[in-house]
Amino acid sequence: MKLLVTGANGQLGRCLLDRLADSDDRVVALGRDGLDITDRSGVNARVMAVRPNIIVNAAAYTSVDRAETDRETAWAVNAEGVEHLARAANRAGAALVHVSTDYVFDGTLRRPYLESDMANPVGVYGASKLAGEQAARLADRHLVVRTAWLFSEYGHNFLRTIIRLAHERDTLSIVDDQVGTPTYAGDLAEALVALCRGRPESGVYHFSGGEPCSWFGFAQAIFAACSQVSDTFPSPRLVPIASSDFPAPVQRPAYSVLDGGKLRREAGVPPGNWRRALVPLCRKILPTG
Ligand SMILES: NC(=O)c1ccc[n+]([C@@H]2O[C@H](COP(=O)([O-])OP(=O)(O)OC[C@H]3O[C@@H](n4cnc5c(N)ncnc54)[C@H](OP(=O)(O)O)[C@@H]3O)[C@@H](O)[C@H]2O)c1
Repeated sequence: MKLLVTGANGQLGRCLLDRLADSDDRVVALGRDGLDITDRSGVNARVMAVRPNIIVNAAAYTSVDRAETDRETAWAVNAEGVEHLARAANRAGAALVHVSTDYVFDGTLRRPYLESDMANPVGVYGASKLAGEQAARLADRHLVVRTAWLFSEYGHNFLRTIIRLAHERDTLSIVDDQVGTPTYAGDLAEALVALCRGRPESGVYHFSGGEPCSWFGFAQAIFAACSQVSDTFPSPRLVPIASSDFPAPVQRPAYSVLDGGKLRREAGVPPGNWRRALVPLCRKILPTG
């Protein structure tokens, strides 16, 4: 199998490369400097030169807040860039595996979202990602995998941010009225590799980390794992707050839990387990002691 991975320097891109490192697959990994997906002719030329069996798109504009004032760039990357990849995939006879988000939903349901539930994004990021899903469907063979609340040892994510803040502050106020599912990007990478090998039907699938929680609950679990790994980890006071007490440029869905049943039934891929990922991850990130 020959894979072309875009966005290879992002947290998912790097987790994917880690998991593909020892495989027999041929992998062409391109960061933004190697392939800017907003450059239509560049995408076309690169894909035709590589001729992959599968393009895995890990490139995205991921700043939910910044997207509100930088709509054009968010759209260029998350919607138009995906269209370029889908059209190039068709020319090269490749399948497109594209990653989307729980933020395509408005968060008003109180049961896990199914793939068939109506998307209704509340912000520019979610809207641009929904447009990207529609663009991905232009590929004759496509898989759109929605995921949520990614964290890993790489890049910018909630886990790394609050570990840093724990060293800087005595008290941390964390939102407790948004419920979703943390997902270890390494688990997602494994699921994507399994999907590439399994070649299920084209369509939309949900993959997330297992048990839902709030950001506050996630923070509690992260600090518990950090304390288990390091005797010197600081223990700041965690205070649960409402979203309305945490000023942000854009509203987030109050509930964005994804139902992963379809992926398990149709492709044999079970959900991840974010709790199980925490201690090994903290061991990688923290000095032990
Ligand atoms: N992070 C989350 O919590 C979360 C939640 C749900 C879904 N997702 C989805 O999961 C996927 C992976 O997210 P992630 O957390 O790994 O994101 P990430 O760490 O922000 O990585 C995205 C990568 O895309 C690159 N990129 C940006 N614009 C590009 C362009 N025009 N051409 C090529 N590459 C470009 C970025 O490069 P630069 O570093 O140079 O900008 C970055 O390396 C995305 O589709 C995202 O929407 C993420």
